[in-house]
Amino acid sequence: MLRRSAVPHQLDRRAFLAASARIAALAALAPLAACAQTSAPLKLEKDPFTLGVASGDPLPGAVILWTRLAMDPLHGGGMPSAPIDVAWTIARDEAMKDVAASGSMSAIPELGHSVHVDANGLEPDRAYWYRFRAGGFDSPIGRTRTAPAASASPEVLKFAFASCQNYTQGYYTAHAALAQEDLHAVVFLGDYIYEGDARGDRVRDYAKRGWAFTLADYRDRYAQYKTDLNLQASHAAFPWIATWDDHEVENNYAGGIDVADPKNKQAVFERTNAYQAYYEHLPIRVARPSGPALKLYRALSFGDLATFHVLDTRQYRSPEVALCADSAETPSGYCAPNLDPKRTMLGKEQRDWLISGLGASHADWNFVAQSVRFAEQDSSPDPATHHFDGVDNWMGYVADRQTLIEQFARTKNAVVLSGDSHVNFVYDIKANFTDPASPRVATELLGTSISSDGDPFIPATQFDGSAKNPQLHFFDNHRGYVRCTVERGRLTADFRAVSTVTEPTATVSTVATFVVDDGKPGAHRA
Ligand SMILES: [Fe+2]
Repeated sequence: MLRRSAVPHQLDRRAFLAASARIAALAALAPLAACAQTSAPLKLEKDPFTLGVASGDPLPGAVILWTRLAMDPLHGGGMPSAPIDVAWTIARDEAMKDVAASGSMSAIPELGHSVHVDANGLEPDRAYWYRFRAGGFDSPIGRTRTAPAASASPEVLKFAFASCQNYTQGYYTAHAALAQEDLHAVVFLGDYIYEGDARGDRVRDYAKRGWAFTLADYRDRYAQYKTDLNLQASHAAFPWIATWDDHEVENNYAGGIDVADPKNKQAVFERTNAYQAYYEHLPIRVARPSGPALKLYRALSFGDLATFHVLDTRQYRSPEVALCADSAETPSGYCAPNLDPKRTMLGKEQRDWLISGLGASHADWNFVAQSVRFAEQDSSPDPATHHFDGVDNWMGYVADRQTLIEQFARTKNAVVLSGDSHVNFVYDIKANFTDPASPRVATELLGTSISSDGDPFIPATQFDGSAKNPQLHFFDNHRGYVRCTVERGRLTADFRAVSTVTEPTATVSTVATFVVDDGKPGAHRA
């Protein structure tokens, strides 16, 4: 999928004329605008496309194309501190002969010389190939795909979802396998990077270990992750639909803070830098962040077959209750503060947007793509007592969870996609988790990590829950991703596992296949 252009250094004519016109215009303006930034010389001494290419957030006639110029990726990018023209071309064929659109864009130092091109005017539901050119170098060619028209009724949608790619804890053998799948899109559910120092057993190390949570720190971390050729191949093969979790900023952070309060100064500093770096490195269709704020939640549809309601479970959530005081534990097994109806996971604005989006959806399948475990899971080993550990997951935000559950009951085929746990789980989502007779209203598929936590000490795959957790149907602790096939009558989820992440190459296999039938919430084994 990832290969160099067969005809290097050849600008398409429109891009060449645009670049020539721009140089002429700059030359004419130069005496009048001596202090203004002008384009750097077009010839770079080294290949700036060390971080690959990516595409994302496909619409029926458009897709975001991404790259970031970095001649010295692990040390701030190594680019001149000036805007650099980047020409782009998107074509209907892999040889890039049948050009559908082209143009040029300025990669500016303020955005780490990253570009987000909104390539539009494209045909719905078809494959395209794209390439960038800058400083005399061609980027690798990426493949992407537009979404079907809003009025279309596609019979099938194939996607995979993945999360949690700690670079130091494993090779990206799962991305190597993912890049070979036959998919329309990849949904990424967070922990694209891990901030700070390496933890646990290290398979490979970070180039930069000491951290001050500066923009330079985050940029160098993204850059090291993105130098991985398997990750580049995964991006170059499919458009991604990405959201974040905590490690894009800091472990278990909760966003709902008063940014004007001086005691939050460090948190605001970290978040501002982290959100900026996230924007710079992901192919997302969102507005450039403003300070510690980036509106990431959004919906993407594939005709009337499927809609992805993509959530941000970090930026607006109430603080976590990390330690439940003994006096606060309730007989229900929940920590009392977690039952406070004022607590929120999504914030009012995002929750209202989701509820109305689910309510108005005409899609046969409604995927809620988000980072952390949604279903209830009782972790008490004692049959007579309950313990619902709400640290960092929806058990800590019971009121918001119940509001969503009530909407799921009125929504066609609601399926929650989650990550974060570094293992696979399949859950029923019940109208009332505390009532064994309560009906199922939705399904949760929680996918394992790409590499985080490394190879399992003791590989384990278990089917069917226990008396304590009858809503749980599957547990598995391999590394990998989940491949989904959406059809009118069913959703099929293949839990794909790689044989290892401690070696650079691995085999991949399906450890389990679960099916959700149309109109019948809850998954069963195929
Ligand atoms: Fe993670």
